[in-house]
Amino acid sequence: MTIQNKLITYEEIEGVGYLTLNREDKLNALNTDVLKELEEVLIEISKTQFSVNGIIFTGAGEKAFIAGADIAEMSDMSVSQAKEFGELGQRVTLLFEKLQLPVIACVNGFALGGGCEMAMSCDFIYATNAAVFGQPEVKLGLIPGFGGTQRLSKLIGRNKAKEIVYTGRNVKADEALSLGLVNKVFDSKGEMLSEAKKTILRMTKNSPYAISIAKKVMNTGNDLTVSEGLHHELNEFSNIFNSQDMKEGCRAFVDKRAASFKGC
Ligand code: COA
Repeated sequence: MTIQNKLITYEEIEGVGYLTLNREDKLNALNTDVLKELEEVLIEISKTQFSVNGIIFTGAGEKAFIAGADIAEMSDMSVSQAKEFGELGQRVTLLFEKLQLPVIACVNGFALGGGCEMAMSCDFIYATNAAVFGQPEVKLGLIPGFGGTQRLSKLIGRNKAKEIVYTGRNVKADEALSLGLVNKVFDSKGEMLSEAKKTILRMTKNSPYAISIAKKVMNTGNDLTVSEGLHHELNEFSNIFNSQDMKEGCRAFVDKRAASFKGC
């Protein structure tokens, strides 16, 4: 599948989906049009079962992944318009989390405000040495509105997140790595994209259905107590015994051959 919209492109190449935000002149800032296109494209992708093994999400150009929500657009918003805008941004983050496929955010340059929030709603983050993360909203008299007050705390711990949100300071790639915000740091955008592709292709040996269920259980568990999460895990663990992939994977091991997964 290929989708070529004005501000978002999506292209499936050799088992990998490339989702790219194209608003380079504004450092890929998220205005309503970008968010609506992103929402539409994610809904389209969610309808295609496992046509690729994973998605690489990145921003066009060398300077920014996403430099935040569009400040010019927000500057004139009323309370009700801001609510609609925040709801739209939050819906997009939830679509990333609910997508059955793994999504790697590949961050080159600025991932500020909404950029950091979009990256955090992906499954994990790769970054270049030039990446700069942050939630600078308080500098504008705002607070994060696309999940930053919630997901940053869950990812790096509440008190570290508070320090970053209250100061609005930049977090460079090496610090983001030590905080556990990013998984790996690379020297260039090219190297990062090629490693992200390798990571996704490494998953092709595994059951895409099992990965999607693992994603669902791990994301849901994030909002639950451990005992509630264990209950959820147990349900999904037992239900997966109904899947063709589970039967094939275990039988292939016993037969000492490679498994051939169908994604169901
Ligand atoms: N919203 C709207 N436009 C933005 C933007 C944003 N979040 N971030 C960058 N842009 C625009 C700039 O207005 C500029 O547009 P122009 O060329 O029409 O004037 C263009 O993108 C390039 O940005 P510029 O500021 O000239 O680049 P820079 O290299 O000097 O600075 C940043 C880069 C990221 C430090 C700076 O753009 C910035 O601070 N952006 C806002 C970051 C932010 O607060 N994000 C959270 C928003 S809630």
